[in-house]
Amino acid sequence: MNFPFAFAVRLRSHLAIALLSLAALVAGCNQSSDPSPPARNAGPSTASGPIRLGFLVKQPEEPWFQLEWRFADQAAKELGFTLVKIGATDGEKVLAAIDNMAAGGAQGLVICTPDTRLGPAIVAKAGAANLKLISVDDQFVGSDGQPMKQVHHLRISARKIGESVGQTLTAEMKKRGWTPATTAVAMVTFDELATAKERTDGAADALVAGGFPRERIFRAPERTPDIPGAFEAMNTLLTQKSDVKHWLVCGVNDNAVLGGIRALEGRGVPIENAVGIGINGTDCIVELEKARPTSFYGSMLLSAKAHGYQTSEMLYKWIKDGVAPPLDTRTVGVLITRENFRQVLKEQGVRE
Ligand code: GLA
Repeated sequence: MNFPFAFAVRLRSHLAIALLSLAALVAGCNQSSDPSPPARNAGPSTASGPIRLGFLVKQPEEPWFQLEWRFADQAAKELGFTLVKIGATDGEKVLAAIDNMAAGGAQGLVICTPDTRLGPAIVAKAGAANLKLISVDDQFVGSDGQPMKQVHHLRISARKIGESVGQTLTAEMKKRGWTPATTAVAMVTFDELATAKERTDGAADALVAGGFPRERIFRAPERTPDIPGAFEAMNTLLTQKSDVKHWLVCGVNDNAVLGGIRALEGRGVPIENAVGIGINGTDCIVELEKARPTSFYGSMLLSAKAHGYQTSEMLYKWIKDGVAPPLDTRTVGVLITRENFRQVLKEQGVRE
């Protein structure tokens, strides 16, 4: 990215977040000083009436988030609460959604925010609206740049899952008899997001621990966390490294690796000369179902059920019974490949 442009974009987004934080604080002051707060804010939030919860996600088009919603819906049905699903791709939409939820009488919100730096603004707004809050997937970051550990959070064990990716790539390389002289790692990164950085850092460390030279691990930073973003990042890397014969591909999630694999195909790299392993396991099902294998070897399947059902259930019980969930819950991943994905997806309730 051209530097002044990148700088201007960052400056603009910092400014937007500062303004949104301020707006939320002002909204918070207004609410709490209101002498006659609406009925929804009265008394403890252990609801005697029907419970209404929101589930807000940053990328509603991503199968991972659709699956979180599906499991949250299941929780709503089984436990008996109303679920409002919200896709919010920027800060303004998030804050507007919280306003709408409060107006609609909701008591709690599970949220994967489109920007973790919105954390303080979200906490202020939710607090003013008397909404209980659980963040999922992406942890809020405070104005000091540190994770907001006081906000209840459920996430993947990102580093460990990244390490498993690195170990599996190492094993696949050995199986194929490739040597570091002809092989390189392409790592599609998104360091702006802590969980994403932990994943790729974990993968790189495991590859090095398995004997792979660190200087042969090349980063492809994606500007947007989606397939087009990864495709573009990988294309740039491939232009610079046209002499590499074998590629090991990893990245922050399935879409990062899928974009990388599509770029390799676009450059005419033979399918058998690359191995890619994703993370999520939910966004690569179509890829694994393709009749002809591609270089996308497998993925670390995360527990969408824990992220969708369990978060909603924790929030529901918190509101209904006053039982606060643990502050920090971490979930694991399991490798799926063409060989076992149908079985594992069935076991995990992702597929019939
Ligand atoms: C982040 C990623 C998603 C998914 C979740 C899992 O939000 O953007 O694709 O990997 O983490 O927690």
